Amino acid sequence: MKGVILAGGLGTRLLPLTRVTNKHLLPVYDRPMIYYPIQTLVEAGVRDILLVTGGSYAGDFLRLLGNGEAFGLDQVHYAYQEGEGGIADALGQARVFSGGDPIVVVLGDNIVEDSIASHVREFEAQGLGARILLKEVDDPERFGVAEISDGRVVGIEEKPARPKSGFAVTGIYMYDGGVFDVIETLEPSERGELEITDVNNAYIRSGQMTYGVLKGWWTDAGTFESLHRAGNLVAARSRPLSERAFTG
Ligand code: G1P
Repeated sequence: MKGVILAGGLGTRLLPLTRVTNKHLLPVYDRPMIYYPIQTLVEAGVRDILLVTGGSYAGDFLRLLGNGEAFGLDQVHYAYQEGEGGIADALGQARVFSGGDPIVVVLGDNIVEDSIASHVREFEAQGLGARILLKEVDDPERFGVAEISDGRVVGIEEKPARPKSGFAVTGIYMYDGGVFDVIETLEPSERGELEITDVNNAYIRSGQMTYGVLKGWWTDAGTFESLHRAGNLVAARSRPLSERAFTG
């Protein structure tokens, strides 16, 4: 399976930290934020990776990551998102890279404790459709929230005032090659962006969405509070990231 990391956006919730750099280049404990989603994919056996970024600091990703040698990769692919069209718009830049193959998508500010390898294997067995990963949280109103009925996700609401469950939709998504046709049907949301939640709801409506639940901790890192928490969680975890990434 191919992997796509979405690392665009203005990171406005982290101003002034993001005034002169991209959010995903900020430090989380002892390495740049972008190292963690790459490591998540590599540890799940995904070695063909596209990084989608944009804005004024896109070139810094090449200087930092090169061809992915620090992660044991032969090559990292890059795509540039013009403007601030949202997560689903950024994902749309991956159409050529995907070439119709299934993909696992990770938001560049999402960090997980455990390997997602078993979830990726389950989606490979599923073949068609989509699969999302959920995590029960104390503050679901900050995220996309899944409504679950009879063991199925029946709808997702983006940052609802009154969440229908405590299950946040994490920024790890698996899609078949049809996802790019779904993106082309989307209309911008109230905040003027193409929403990944709308992509997921389209798969739910067509009865092609499955889900898994993450066991270990999960966090985003897009606010001061979550960035701070991410650093603390990473610092405390017993499983070190690969030595090569650390020294690379
Ligand atoms: C995005 C998605 C949201 C998801 C979250 C996970 O939100 O829109 O559905 O729960 O990532 O990190 P954002 O962080 O862009 O507000």
